[in-house]
Amino acid sequence: EYVLGAAFAVLSTGAPAQTIGFSQIGSESGWRAAETTVTQQEAEKRGIDLRFSDAQQRQENQIAAIRSYVAQGVDAILLAPVVATGWDSVLEEAKEAEIPVVLLDRRVDSSEDLYLTAVGSDLVHEGEVAGQWLVDNKPEGECRVVELQGTTGSSPAIDRATGFRTGIEGSDDIEIVRSQTGDFTRSGGKEVMESFLQAEGGGDNICALYAHNDDMALGAIQAIKEAGIDPGDDILIVSIDAVPDIFLAIAEGDANATVELTPNMAGPAFDALDAYLTDGVAPTKFIQTESALYTQGDDPMAEYEARKDLGY
Ligand code: AHR
Repeated sequence: EYVLGAAFAVLSTGAPAQTIGFSQIGSESGWRAAETTVTQQEAEKRGIDLRFSDAQQRQENQIAAIRSYVAQGVDAILLAPVVATGWDSVLEEAKEAEIPVVLLDRRVDSSEDLYLTAVGSDLVHEGEVAGQWLVDNKPEGECRVVELQGTTGSSPAIDRATGFRTGIEGSDDIEIVRSQTGDFTRSGGKEVMESFLQAEGGGDNICALYAHNDDMALGAIQAIKEAGIDPGDDILIVSIDAVPDIFLAIAEGDANATVELTPNMAGPAFDALDAYLTDGVAPTKFIQTESALYTQGDDPMAEYEARKDLGY
């Protein structure tokens, strides 16, 4: 259906509707892979000529990709920025070339007039929801929490850390005792969780794990099991993304809760770009996606089934 739609759009106009460059961060997580797939599908549906570039987690590669898109004279650029700082010059270059840039899922600390709009969730709110879930579900008494942070300097790592702390504020018996980056990867989550368990003398002193994404939580679950501890029970697990595998873990009782981040940021981004490029309608500076909470009380297998073919 998508292929036919794209072919029709191209044939009916004689050329692709728009040429759009997409500078993607890499493929660090299941969520990221799904975002790439969905973006390509959404482009195909609309007959967009999408020029894709995988930065392999390096900001310099993203800057080079943006410069190359500017040189190619694309109609617009999608940027999922790996870190929040250091974008001013290249965004100014795109602006001077009159090429609108749309931020996908992560934010930058540059001035708002350097990009057209940002599509994404409220990353602080996601952390708050996770923190509030822990406040409502922790066992009686003191609760010592370990935290797996996302990529250092990235907006989700900064904002999800802030939001979680706000969520647990006022609950004096919850304390974050260890916090380290696992770089949003499964292997990073496993490795850092192993070191947390070792440093804490096992799992008896750890009440909960908060992971900035599901992939790190899944790696940590493996480490917890290998240490002979029961994840989801002895150590509560709350994370963010809602990828299919976390629903399998929730169904097994190995994880407790996840906050959804939709991988379809491109749909709203392409709609906003189309209105802007075709009719000159400027979008709002932030197009917000939903952040729903899923727990063991929901139907995790149904949620798994709903997502398993989405390119995760
Ligand atoms: O920027 C969004 C985050 O990046 C996702 O939560 C994580 O899985 C990804 O790597």
